[in-house]
Amino acid sequence: MQSFAQLAAQFNQFFERDHFPSFPGSLYDPNRHFLQIGGKRIRPVLCLMGNELFSSIHPSTWNAATAIELFHNFTLIHDDIMDKAPLRRGVQTVHEKYGNNTALLAGDVMLINAYAYLNKVPASSLPAILSLFNKTAIEICEGQQLDMDFENQLEVSLVAYLQMIEKKTSVLLAAALMIGALLGGASERNQQLLYSFGLKLGLAFQVQDDYLDAFGDPAIFGKLVGGDILADKKTFLLIHALDTADASARERLLYWQKRPGGGKVAEVLSIYKSCQVDAWALQLKQQFLDEAMADLDQIAVVSSRKQSLQSLADYLLQRQI
Ligand code: IPE
Ligand code: IPE
Ligand code: MG
Ligand code: MG
Ligand code: MG
Repeated sequence: MQSFAQLAAQFNQFFERDHFPSFPGSLYDPNRHFLQIGGKRIRPVLCLMGNELFSSIHPSTWNAATAIELFHNFTLIHDDIMDKAPLRRGVQTVHEKYGNNTALLAGDVMLINAYAYLNKVPASSLPAILSLFNKTAIEICEGQQLDMDFENQLEVSLVAYLQMIEKKTSVLLAAALMIGALLGGASERNQQLLYSFGLKLGLAFQVQDDYLDAFGDPAIFGKLVGGDILADKKTFLLIHALDTADASARERLLYWQKRPGGGKVAEVLSIYKSCQVDAWALQLKQQFLDEAMADLDQIAVVSSRKQSLQSLADYLLQRQI
């Protein structure tokens, strides 16, 4: 079993090829630009690890992993429009640089390209992979809509938040793993356990994403710190703060909802800090990590083969970008 760094380096080599024609450059240059500015490549590596858990890497897994990374990049381009985000991976977002209309189309083309790569998997695996991919894509749309709906609700429960992040984020991590497992000839039960591992890992991953959005180091984070606060996102930070803050801090948090700029980010951050969101984040991540590991434990392969997934899970929860 290879490490995250080894698989990410090999995937990047495979992924480096030009995925788009040259004409019209006004459409394809934004896509080329977006893929070149990086990204951690977590999902394709999960797909490769899901495969290598059960066999040596099947050649078609590189195509499936590419489909998943292209799909992920499509969701990011559209997500940045929805979230009015100015920065991604340390540079201007696609819509900010090229305009909303081009960003919409660039995302669409990226999505269609993802399907072109998916179509390269062996015909015997395609129906199962396609139906999982489609189910995942629909759930992500549902999650993204819920995420936006929540912007207009004053309060959201932790249960509703977790449902939303499972859809917008976890299902793609889980599907990446499961597609790899499918191509690796894993049993139905092992596939399901790996899927469930991915769902839990995804929840922890999004908790860290939300945490970094508030407390990331602007010099390395690559996205606008405080962006979720400005967009009235209902993150676990806000949910926890509303649950635990004293009456006046709670009133201030509610006051800032749907109010623009000024001292909003600074004041909300200071209330978050006073509610010890650090400790809460750690606890929440650990809970999901433990649940994920319980699923991984049950997968019927020798434990030495699970080491890379364990290390990747640890890295994902401590990452700073
Ligand atoms: C960001 O995903 C979108 C979320 C689901 C939180 P990543 O943090 O994996 O983004 P890149 O691909 O590394 O930029
Ligand atoms: C994005 O969640 C999930 C998808 C792109 C489907 P976020 O909006 O939190 O992701 P970032 O923080 O912008 O990367
Ligand atoms: Mg976003
Ligand atoms: Mg979003
Ligand atoms: Mg985020």
